[in-house]
Amino acid sequence: MLDLGVLVSGSGTNLQAILDAVAERRLDARVHVVVSNKPGVPALDRAERAGVPAVVVPHRDFSSREEFDRKLVEVLRAAGVKLVVLAGFMRVLTPVFLQAFAGRVINIHPSLLPAFPGVGAQGQALAHGVKVTGCTVHYVDAGVDTGPIIAQRAVPVLDGDTVESLTARLLEQEHALMVEALNRIATESA
Ligand code: GAR
Repeated sequence: MLDLGVLVSGSGTNLQAILDAVAERRLDARVHVVVSNKPGVPALDRAERAGVPAVVVPHRDFSSREEFDRKLVEVLRAAGVKLVVLAGFMRVLTPVFLQAFAGRVINIHPSLLPAFPGVGAQGQALAHGVKVTGCTVHYVDAGVDTGPIIAQRAVPVLDGDTVESLTARLLEQEHALMVEALNRIATESA
């Protein structure tokens, strides 16, 4: 069984995909804690509805990225987390965090990496005029969206797409991809 901690910053639809897959026994995992760097986001309500402890660690309360990361590590370790999932978590982690969970942090990103890393991947894809984009789940290393790839799905870009329409089409595939990637990790670590 995977002992998960999920870091979020916003709407939490990828978190919901994990919670649903666990509840429906499509994924052998337990979400021990959900941590948000932003108060009041819908992801926290999703955690609470699923009976999962939801913790806010506001990054603005810390004088450095390292101090913030130390607090995250403390919260996740205290909850018994072994694998950390970044699900729409919009902060870059420092070596303080990555060394504490070495090789045990994964991220979901709305592009076919290594194309369009960083923020606004959907807008980048539209600006480049690509006809196919997609989503990626990868292990997190010290770079931004650069670690080893676990799984990807391709998604078409359609004529007339906006950031909103493309984001919605991508999210649908992200939710399936997230569960697929976690199942792959669960099988490999069994
Ligand atoms: C998702 O599209 C995820 O891929 C993206 O943020 C969204 C979060 O949605 N992450 C990144 O862009 C990370 N660089 P959600 O909160 O509904 O899961």
